[in-house]
Amino acid sequence: MRKPLITGNWKMNKTITESISLIKELVDFVKGYQETEIVICPPYTSLWVTKELIQDTNILLGAQNMYFQDEGAYTGEISASMLQNIGCDYVIVGHSERREYFHESSQEVAWKVRQALSFGIKPIICVGEKLEERESGSAREVVKEEIEAIFEVLKSQDAPGVVFAYEPIWAIGTGKSATSKDANDMIQYIRNLLKEKYSEKIAEQIRILYGGSVKPENIKELMAESDIDGALVGGASLKALAFSQLVKFRE
Ligand code: 13P
Repeated sequence: MRKPLITGNWKMNKTITESISLIKELVDFVKGYQETEIVICPPYTSLWVTKELIQDTNILLGAQNMYFQDEGAYTGEISASMLQNIGCDYVIVGHSERREYFHESSQEVAWKVRQALSFGIKPIICVGEKLEERESGSAREVVKEEIEAIFEVLKSQDAPGVVFAYEPIWAIGTGKSATSKDANDMIQYIRNLLKEKYSEKIAEQIRILYGGSVKPENIKELMAESDIDGALVGGASLKALAFSQLVKFRE
């Protein structure tokens, strides 16, 4: 059985002061809740204070990005050892905003996956198509290419520890979520690729999330699908009440 995972991606929001109040509220709202794994990914500047505030709670810490080199002259970048030292459990890699605005290639995303794993940090690997790719019927092809780049670096013994997130770009921040059936279809397709590459047993252990305008109003329907194992949430993760409702989608 795959434990549901609800991850909040705060993106470029929240100062340290704002982070502290959001985390305190959230810790209270989800106190003791064990049915869902809860991960929050604040901006780098708030990672340390977040780690302190979620110590001994049921909330885990993730970063939104990292660089694939060990250390050195890479101004503005953050390494896996820095994230490990803070105590990050997860790191988001290959978010469509990184791929689009910062021109990250699938090859770089794969290197980041390899680097995160070698530091014991679980990558949440984002894939997804643009609106024109969906409309022209090439959504699966795009997702397949992004996944195949990961296959180059992901060994079968590491595969069960990674998380994939299918985020159709046209559904991100638009209020327009994919239908739960469309999301599940693509996630099943991804799971089949994982089966072919690794094995049925491994593919059944890997969690695949959906992301794109997830909110309290649509979480139940999404989570009722056979293959959706959780959500990667942007906007709704910035409000403690809404995020806690996502975490407790079963109630
Ligand atoms: P929204 O939930 O704001 O659509 O963002 C989704 C996302 O990009 C999470 O990584």
